[in-house]
Amino acid sequence: MRVVCLRGGFGLDQLVLEERPDPVPGPGEVLLRMRAASLNFRDVSIARGTYDPRLALPVVLGTDGVGQVAARGPGGTRFELGERVCPLFARGWYEGPPTRATARSMLGGPLDGTFAELLVARDDDLVRAPPELTDEEAATLGCAGVTAYRTLFELARVEAGTRVLVIGTGGVASFALVLGHAVGAQVIVVSRSAEKLRHAQALGAEHAVNATEQPEWGVAVRELAGGEGADLVVELGGAATLAQSLRAVRAGGTVALIGHTPDGSHTPSLVPVVMREIRVQGVLVGPRASFEAFTRFLSQRRVRPALDRVFALAEFRSAFETLARGDAFGKTCLRIAAP
Ligand SMILES: NC(=O)c1ccc[n+]([C@@H]2O[C@H](COP(=O)([O-])OP(=O)(O)OC[C@H]3O[C@@H](n4cnc5c(N)ncnc54)[C@H](OP(=O)(O)O)[C@@H]3O)[C@@H](O)[C@H]2O)c1
Repeated sequence: MRVVCLRGGFGLDQLVLEERPDPVPGPGEVLLRMRAASLNFRDVSIARGTYDPRLALPVVLGTDGVGQVAARGPGGTRFELGERVCPLFARGWYEGPPTRATARSMLGGPLDGTFAELLVARDDDLVRAPPELTDEEAATLGCAGVTAYRTLFELARVEAGTRVLVIGTGGVASFALVLGHAVGAQVIVVSRSAEKLRHAQALGAEHAVNATEQPEWGVAVRELAGGEGADLVVELGGAATLAQSLRAVRAGGTVALIGHTPDGSHTPSLVPVVMREIRVQGVLVGPRASFEAFTRFLSQRRVRPALDRVFALAEFRSAFETLARGDAFGKTCLRIAAP
């Protein structure tokens, strides 16, 4: 089988497509023939060595994907041959908050990930893909999708009328937009691109704020959010955008810290957190229970992920470069098997 892996060192130019022996499922495991995978910014950070400079190599990249059950290990499993399933972001994390083991169990670093033609997984570490979604759509759910779902509906309580600020228009951001819109939340999107903002409005964003034209966008957002500020900020820029997010959120509102810059520079003043009783909520994707609740939500509400470009597995380098440039609106995918 072929895999996209980081072998000789860090850097996007160190990514290679290499041949590996086909894996064989053991007891309680299934063999997945991967159909599609999607990229997360995490994959770019891992490849560059900024996510974890001590990460042991070689490692197969990719956190998100969908595969078809091609073989079952001895003793049977809860999945039938041919079923489409998505691997969990972190093996063994089924419910509740993350534990110390979670960081050691994440796909695409430190464990081998989804940018592979074949993948072996325990059946407990898999979730059925929603049948109405295409392979590419189903391949976007496990990391970006679960992160947005858990932020909006489990760590916060977004409902009709909740004012939600979303930073950017990438994978997590586009999910936060379409999920918030689906329940009638008032979603405000901040982006550096006028074209992406038009796209966000077509998907239901109530207000669009151009961060290039208005670098001090925090005050503009506060005004658009009823003058008091947003109830929830889906914070994806980390230290680079946090100061504006703290201006944009209402007193007593929540800033969900999801994205982060690796060097920790530009740390903003945390005085507003105290003075305005802002709740700061860290988010790390989510466990299997969140993924399963998310797939039910998608099917019931008929919500679909926002897809950008789809590349063939052999074009992985172009896919990484697209993400690294920040060009995409929504998710960038890899097609692994023929439709
Ligand atoms: N904690 C977690 O569980 C978790 C899960 C998933 C992702 N993340 C993190 O969340 C962030 C987004 O991940 P993703 O996979 O959604 O990324 P992505 O699809 O690559 O999107 C990146 C987004 O960031 C914006 N952006 C790019 N460069 C920027 C800059 N210099 N300043 C401000 N905004 C910039 C872009 O929006 P515009 O072009 O529209 O401005 C784009 O929406 C990353 O930091 C990632 O590591 C964390």
